[in-house]
Amino acid sequence: MKILNIVGARPNFVKIAPLIRAMGSHPFMTPILVHTGQHYDGPMSQQFFRELDIVPPDFNLGVGSGSHAVQTAEVMRRLEPVLEAARPDLVLVVGDVNSTLAAALTAVKLHIPVAHVEAGLRSFDRTMPEEINRLVTDAVADLLFVTEESGRQNLLREGIAPERVHFVGNVMIDALHAFRSRWERSPIVSALGLHGDPYVVLTLHRPSNVDDPITLMNFVEALQELARHVPVVFPVHPRVKQHLLLQGHLFETIPDSRGPLYSKGVVYLDPLGYLDFIALMSRARLVLSDSGGIQEETTILGVPCLTLRDTTERPVTVSHGTNRVIGADPARIVGEVLRTLERPPCPNGPPPLWDGQAAGRIVKILLEAFGGAPVREAPRRRGVVA
Ligand code: UD1
Repeated sequence: MKILNIVGARPNFVKIAPLIRAMGSHPFMTPILVHTGQHYDGPMSQQFFRELDIVPPDFNLGVGSGSHAVQTAEVMRRLEPVLEAARPDLVLVVGDVNSTLAAALTAVKLHIPVAHVEAGLRSFDRTMPEEINRLVTDAVADLLFVTEESGRQNLLREGIAPERVHFVGNVMIDALHAFRSRWERSPIVSALGLHGDPYVVLTLHRPSNVDDPITLMNFVEALQELARHVPVVFPVHPRVKQHLLLQGHLFETIPDSRGPLYSKGVVYLDPLGYLDFIALMSRARLVLSDSGGIQEETTILGVPCLTLRDTTERPVTVSHGTNRVIGADPARIVGEVLRTLERPPCPNGPPPLWDGQAAGRIVKILLEAFGGAPVREAPRRRGVVA
């Protein structure tokens, strides 16, 4: 069984690592890996491959950055000949980034079955690009692997046949468990001079939080106010750095490759690799973030997480985990953080099936679904050399 796996952006690499490992250890499976190139800087891409032992991609489409339409269209245009040449039995996509959507559309139009890992999550906020990616990917996918019960319910409500939906657990948590011994050895906390002191980690990258200069300024001010109470470590995503650079007067908030920048209680860093970032979160008193995956990782690490958004597509992190969705009003942040530091949440134990075994379950279901043979024959286009 030839499975062509698609990755493009940082969280995809974490999710694919346990899957490729599980597929590679099965005698009837041949995994192929395609990197779309949506993320391309060393710390956003190659470092994840190295740290998570991911084999180098068989194809790199080199798509790079662009508007949503350009990025999605470029992935589709460059992936189509690869799919025609490789003729996989299945295309597997993970998560909700533009590469996920583009690959699912390209495959389904070539009549190649699609599996979506992390299906069914819904924020019910269609202004989020990821929500559109999730809805469309799930609508065309043949096999849908969900991480939590809400995902299954959402898909059934949208009319997806129940036999196509499989509740398997969370591959991102597989990675967290599988690489524990490595991230536990990371020296990042002492390297930053934190030496066992309490600190907060912040990440921001949602367009709604960082693309508007006034909103971003308000966040920076809230961050500096918070840092008067507790040190804050802020690895700065390239999207945010780009916007900070546009605000020239915020130069004291822009890290560079020479190392961390310490300013008024805040440690500004370039993006960290996987091992350092998980180590940093695992020893933090609290994490503030607008990310999706971080809500899940903090749930398993048992670290309180305040989500800087109005919605979450991962409600199990609130019902079982340490997550609270506090909105994106910078004026509320300091009060919410101080309250949570005083009275941390009591988690209800790990969500069902978040046990490090999700990739194995997925591989087993794929083998059962395909019985070793392709489900559908992909049409061969004239003039294309396979
Ligand atoms: C993307 C995903 C988001 C995911 C996030 C994880 C979409 C719509 N968004 O957001 O769901 O949570 O990745 O990080 O797919 N850039 C660099 N170097 C890189 C990559 C990006 O400098 O290696 C800069 C570019 O200026 C680019 C900007 O960051 O324009 C944004 O990158 P992009 O991939 O468009 O979206 P993200 O904000 O990273």
